[in-house]
Order: sequence, then structure tokens, then C-alpha cells
Amino acid sequence: MTQIDWPALRAAARAAMERAYAPYSGFPVGAAALTDDGRVVTGCNVENASYGLGLCAECGLVSALYGGAAGAARAARPRLVAVVVVDRHGAALMPCGRCRQVLWEHGGPGMLLETVRGVRSMAEVLPDAFGAGDLTDRA
Ligand code: THU
Repeated sequence: MTQIDWPALRAAARAAMERAYAPYSGFPVGAAALTDDGRVVTGCNVENASYGLGLCAECGLVSALYGGAAGAARAARPRLVAVVVVDRHGAALMPCGRCRQVLWEHGGPGMLLETVRGVRSMAEVLPDAFGAGDLTDRA
């Protein structure tokens, strides 16, 4: 099991937040994750003049998980082990509901998240989640 360096993840999330494109909300967000193949992937929110099309930081992070610069070297099905999402002050920010679902897909119930109430598992922040198993069980 890879050791989780929470301060390093927090710093990476903060650095990503500095790169956010959030001219409409004025609310920059950064996210960073440790993967099971030992990488740190990051994302920031990227808004759009068509407001509803804005991308949350976690979406950028998951995109980097698969398509990032280290793409060729990564595991075929990389998994998220630990995630930190921060606001402009570097304080922990709870992922929105949609992003909890996005993170669940790639981290599962055991993925750890630094929350406003300390480190918690995805199973705790998204109880009774819908997931891939629900599709196959009903096929
Ligand atoms: N935002 C994120 O990037 N992640 C979240 O989990 C919560 C919200 C962004 C979306 C929007 O660009 C801004 O924060 C204000 O909602």
C-alpha cells in the first residue's frame, strides 16, 4: 500500500487551484489525487461563458488520471487512492454531488478523501452509492 503524503497532496491541489479558470464564479478550486500506480494527478475548475458547461476540478483530475502526461506509463485501469480538493485559501472543500459520483467510479468505496471533518472514505461521503455493480447485477 502506497504511503499517503497528505501535505504533499494538499500542496499539489493548491498549485492546481492557482491555475483555475473561474472568471464567472470567482471561486477557484484545485484537486489532487494519489493513484495506485504512484502518480499524483491534479485538476482545476475550468468555467465557460455558457455557465452550465463549466468543468469542476475533480473532472479535470479524472481526465488527467487517464489522459495525463504520464499516460503511456500508467496502469491500464488506474485507481484513485486519496484525494484532496481545496478552495482559494487551501482549505478542504467537499466535492459536489456529481463529483462524488465521478470520484466513486475511479476510487470506489475505499478511496480516502480529506474533508472538512478530517479524512473519510468515499463510502462515508457517498453512502449507498450507485455504481457499476448496479448495472451488472440487473443485466
Ligand atoms: N467546483 C468544483 O470545481 N468542484 C466542486 O466539487 C465544487 C464546485 C467549482 C465549480 C464552479 O466553477 C465553482 O466551483 C463554483 O461553484
